[in-house]
Parts: sequence; structure tokens; C-alpha cells
Amino acid sequence: MNAVATSSFRPSRTAAVFTCILAALAGLMFGLDIGVISGASQFIQKDFQVSDHVIEWIVSAMMLGAAVGALGASWMSARLGRKRSLILGATLFVAGSLLCGGAWSPQTLIVARFVLGLAIGIATFTAPLYLAEVAPEKIRGAMISLYQLMITIGILVAFLSDTAFSYSGNWRWMLGIIAIPGALFLLSLFLLPDSPRWLMMRGRTRQAEDVLHRLRGDRALVTREMADIAEQLKTPQRGWHLFQQNVNFRRSVGLGVLLQLMQQFTGMNVVMYYAPRIFQNLGYDIHAQLWFTAIVGLTNVLATFIAIGLVDKLGRKPILYIGFAVMAVGLGIVGSMMHLGIATHAQQLFTVAMLLIFIVGFAMSAGPLIWTLCSEVQPLKGRDFGIGCSTFTNWIANMIVGATFLSLLNGIGNAATFWLYGGLNLVFIVLTFWLIPETKGVTLEQIERNLMSGLPLREIGKQASPVAAGAGFNTKKVSRESAIS
Ligand code: BGC
Repeated sequence: MNAVATSSFRPSRTAAVFTCILAALAGLMFGLDIGVISGASQFIQKDFQVSDHVIEWIVSAMMLGAAVGALGASWMSARLGRKRSLILGATLFVAGSLLCGGAWSPQTLIVARFVLGLAIGIATFTAPLYLAEVAPEKIRGAMISLYQLMITIGILVAFLSDTAFSYSGNWRWMLGIIAIPGALFLLSLFLLPDSPRWLMMRGRTRQAEDVLHRLRGDRALVTREMADIAEQLKTPQRGWHLFQQNVNFRRSVGLGVLLQLMQQFTGMNVVMYYAPRIFQNLGYDIHAQLWFTAIVGLTNVLATFIAIGLVDKLGRKPILYIGFAVMAVGLGIVGSMMHLGIATHAQQLFTVAMLLIFIVGFAMSAGPLIWTLCSEVQPLKGRDFGIGCSTFTNWIANMIVGATFLSLLNGIGNAATFWLYGGLNLVFIVLTFWLIPETKGVTLEQIERNLMSGLPLREIGKQASPVAAGAGFNTKKVSRESAIS
């Protein structure tokens, strides 16, 4: 028996990594869904002869579904479990993709995109939760970064497949084909174990122990981890109650919401959903539009590595400052070029380069970091509720951006639309300075203590000493910060 336990150590580690990779494939589905519509929308518009406004709805129905899915996912992942929630999400994903491909009217397409959104809302809430619960501690950070990387890879794959299908102009294949990776994902989910933490939440301690044995192999590790989980479960999730009672928790929920508003109003998804349309306005034909869109996708993947490499060295805030500044400059120049008029080939290419600079700015900063910060700033007791609120905000803001871009272009014009988003990025530099904490190298427990002691939001990532220094210092800060919340 002992011999088995010892010799199973290496395979069990492989099993844990395999499990995480499988769950990170949920990120891939997320990315495919975000990316796929950009190349298809012009063909849909021609085929169904619909206005820009209807296209905005086809694009945005997915985000509305995702917001609803994310809301329901918190309840579902507690009741049904993480694994079954992911299976339900993947099933909806396959059904939604097939319905998109076969849609017989713009209305059907809107409904199908809503179903896809439900799938993504469930997956975006559940997959990171599952990952955090099954990944061994040493590789946990890497696994969560892998999730964001998979999102960008999914977007790139969707852009490439759109480009390939653009030669036949077949938008049905563009939208339908993602059912295949969806089905593979669904099948692979059946190989996943249930989350040990969830099993313990449901009182199924024996099963939790079995799963942990398979994942970790080492007996001592399993005992320690089970004790840790049992300890954590002593703090029941009472998010709504805490939200009503505690001003400091309201501040961290507000911070999570603000962070996601900032991420979405950078304007990143304007490019994700409408890149071909932007390149069309720059004067490129449809194939060039889609090839440039694929380059946007590749840039997004590659620049994500910058964030992964820098986040624990430079810290969150410096990276956010750089990212927002780069985005403001990129969009400002794109707007100015559109204002001045783009006549020559060189001017076209320069504008494309500036748009790519904007993508680099996002992918190296707000893309991954906002998700990281959102999971770091919530106190344990309200973590599910807090992350649920910020994820919901991400999708609602995402929808607003997607649903208004074409109207903005038609209403205030190309240049002013890009200037508007560029200006917002400047405002985010100020908000980062004023309200966002630096959380590099601080334990979640310390962040929670700082938050609950009333330190201003931007100081909740401080190391222990200033908090311990004295109540007078803290009390003063409480009243100052309460005014903000
Ligand atoms: C954002 C998505 C965005 C993607 C682009 C994610 O972090 O939440 O809205 O489309 O990054 O890579």
C-alpha cells in the first residue's frame, strides 16, 4: 500500500497538471467565442441584409448571456459542483455553436449567441475556481496565467479560422466549426475528478481524500491539505450578508467592479469584435482585413507573455500605468490619423501599427492583471460574492462596449470614437494611482486585514507593519476612506 503511494507520486503530479490543462481549455472556449464573430459579421450583414444596429445585437447577445450565466454559475457550482457545471457549460457551448451555424434568421442568431454566452458565463466563473482548487500550490500561479493565455490563443484560432473561411464567405462554417473543439472539451471533462474542496463542502470527505490522493500522491500532503480545506470551510460564504453589514467589504466589491469597468472601457473588445470593420475603414479589402485581424490575435497572445513574466517582478501598478499609457497613446494616434485622413499605403500601415501597439498595451497589463487583482482583493468570507459581482460587471460592460461601437462610429465619427477610448485610458491612469492597491508579494490574509482595518483602498496591499503600528492611524484612514465608498 505504502509502496503504491510512494511510487504514484510522479504520475499523480502529471495527473494534476493534466487536470489543470483540461480545465484551462475552458479559457480556449472563452477566446473562441470572443474572436469568432469579428470575421463573420460582415458576411452575416450582407446575407441577412440587416443594419449596423442588428449586428451590434448579434455581437452583444453573447455578453448578455455571459452576464446571466456568470450570475447563475455561483449558485450552480456550489449545488451541482464544479465539474458538472463545466459539463453543462460545454454542452451549451456545443448547442449554441451549432445553432449559430444553422441560424435561419437574425433573431435565431441573437438567441444562439445568447446561449453561447450562457456557456461562457458559466465557464468563466467555474474554470478559475476549479483550477485554484485542484492545482498543487507550487504551480497554482502558472495555471491561472495559463487560463488567460488560453483565452488569447482561442481568440487567435478563431481569427485564423475566420480568415480561412473568408475566401468562401461562409459565415455559417465560421460560427459552426467551433462546436468541434467544444465537443472535444466536453468529452475530456468526463475525465476530470470532482473538486476536493467541493466534495468536502458537501460532506463527502472520503471521496475528497481519494481525489486528493490521485492528484497529489503524497500522504502527508493530502492530510495537510484536507486540514487546510476544513479550516477554510469554517468560514462560510456569507457574501450578501457581509455586503449589507460591512462598509469595508462594500469597498472591496466596489473596487472589483471598478477594476472590471476599467478593463472593458479600455476599448479592447472594440478591436476584438470589430477589427475587420476598423481595417475596412482604413481602406483594406476583406482578405487583408482578416489577415490583419489574425495579426492582432497573434500580438495579443505574444504580449500576454510580457505580463506573465513581469507581474511578480515589477508589480501590478507599474504595469497598469505603462499599459494604460501605451493604450492611450495608441488610440490617440489612431484617432488622429483618421481625423487627418489616411491616403497613402504608409499611412495605412502606420495606423495599423498603432492599433497593434494598443493591443500590446492591453495584453501586457489590464488583460491578465485585472483578473488577478479581482481575485486578490476580496475577503475570504465574501470571495465568491465579490468575484461574482466583478465578473458580472465584466460582461455587462463588455456588452455596452460591443453594443455601442458601430453607433458611435456612425454618430460621432471614427476619430472621436478612438479619442474617446484613448481619453478613458488616461483617466484610468489617475484611477490606478488613486484607488488601486499594489498586491505584489502580499498574502491574501494581509490584504484582508488591511481592508477590514479601514486602510484606503490603494494601501490595502501594504505589508504588515503599518497596520500593526497603531489604531489611531487606522481610525483616521477609515473615516477618510468611508467617504469614498
Ligand atoms: C477580457 C476580455 C478580452 C480578452 C482579450 C480578457 O481578459 O476579459 O474581455 O476580450 O481579455 O484578450
